Amino acid sequence: MSRIFNIDAVEKVGASVTLCGWVHARRDMGKIIFIDLRDKTGLMQVVFADSKLVEQANELRPEFVVKIVGTVKKRGEKYFNKKLATGEVEIEATEFEILNESKTPPFEIDKDTISVNEEARLKYRYLDLRSERMHKNLELRHKTIKFLRDYLDKVGFIEVETPCLTKGTPEGAREFVVPSRLHSGSFYVLPQSPQQFKQLLMVAGAERYFQIARCFRDEDQRGDRQPEFTQLDMEMSFVEQEDILSLIEIMTIKMVQELFPEKKISGNPFPRLTYAEAMQKYDSDKPDLRQDKNNKDELSFCWVVDFPMFEMGESDGKIGAMHHPFTSPKAEDATLLDASPLKVRANAYDLVLNGYEIGGGSIRIHKRDLQNKIFEILGLSKEEIEMKFSHMLEAFEYGAPPHGGIAWGLDRFIMLMAGEPNIREVMAFPKTGDARDPLMGAPSPLPEKALREVHIKIVE
Ligand code: AMO
Repeated sequence: MSRIFNIDAVEKVGASVTLCGWVHARRDMGKIIFIDLRDKTGLMQVVFADSKLVEQANELRPEFVVKIVGTVKKRGEKYFNKKLATGEVEIEATEFEILNESKTPPFEIDKDTISVNEEARLKYRYLDLRSERMHKNLELRHKTIKFLRDYLDKVGFIEVETPCLTKGTPEGAREFVVPSRLHSGSFYVLPQSPQQFKQLLMVAGAERYFQIARCFRDEDQRGDRQPEFTQLDMEMSFVEQEDILSLIEIMTIKMVQELFPEKKISGNPFPRLTYAEAMQKYDSDKPDLRQDKNNKDELSFCWVVDFPMFEMGESDGKIGAMHHPFTSPKAEDATLLDASPLKVRANAYDLVLNGYEIGGGSIRIHKRDLQNKIFEILGLSKEEIEMKFSHMLEAFEYGAPPHGGIAWGLDRFIMLMAGEPNIREVMAFPKTGDARDPLMGAPSPLPEKALREVHIKIVE
């Protein structure tokens, strides 16, 4: 099929072209019928004027899939439609074919769907994604990820995929578990992040790693949280905190200039606050430093640094890692580890944008003894350390280089750049607030046989 996109027809005035897409809207003028034909590049007005074609075109309904052959005509100047990228031309149809019909969609997709009930939007996500706003968001996401991949490639990073079937990672959230068929009674855990693998890649000599990584956390949902989300995950060897912050800052500014030129960054270089300052001044470790909170184009980044190493768990009163247990203590505080661990600050930093934590990272521990000591302070027994982390401790004995990194919540970042109120708006197939996928019907019960194979018995 010599089909071209709507947008490319603009340059072909006088030519006969073949266009394909969906009927976005139909306007019946009696002797003439107009349709707005939608494809991935936007809308194009098509005119049916020939009486035979008009009769056929009468059958067209919204969301019918059509193939149209027609002549590209320049519109008279007073008929230019400035709202459309193709608004200076229209197609005079000479033939057309209905490729597929469509039932009436459960909600109007030629309008913004944000106010449509969430359950319906997610159950019919393939229709919701046809709307202009969602289309734009997916494109923005693609462009952002492409920029990051290209940029990091240029500055010497390689993308490495790490496993999704793995072992627990202690990063604060509850984990999703996957039963093993071959090993009765044993389970894989889906990664909360590729934290341990990226550190092991540093031991492996990768030096500069990144990954557009899928992460899984079984935690309560919020507008900026999903059980399955995507990180730009990075790690570097032979670096100090400053190297990481400045690389991220340069990359972020370049990306905003290139992809979001309408946005203005207030605060360049990004302001830095210690955790103590942020809490004292703003009572928050993710302060919103925008000068004008109503300006949708103001971007106010800041770094929050010097987080405490540990915090006291509110519910259990147990000491826990504030970032994660692989984070290194600041050298000047290391002597406090035994006597006052809660006073020890970490080489940990968060990147904050307009009041949202969009990234977090740290300089890691790369020596066995210190790592072991941190596990002990966290209350892990010798046996637990051995069972959960012996692979990390062992790896540190084989020439582990000093290293550190960061991970961005990509969905959150894209949500803010798209001016959306919720990360679901920038994910193709997100889950509902109670972690369901109404389209696929997940999660769902499994047949008895499937459960037996993975050695699972449901106890009511
Ligand atoms: P952290 O747990 O801070 O660090 O996560 C990094 C960033 O991921 C985003 N994020 C989420 N986004 C959507 N839904 C969620 N449920 C969710 N949870 C977190 C946030 C956050 O800043 N391994 C470390 C990084 C490192 O030390 O390099 C980690 O995952 O924007």
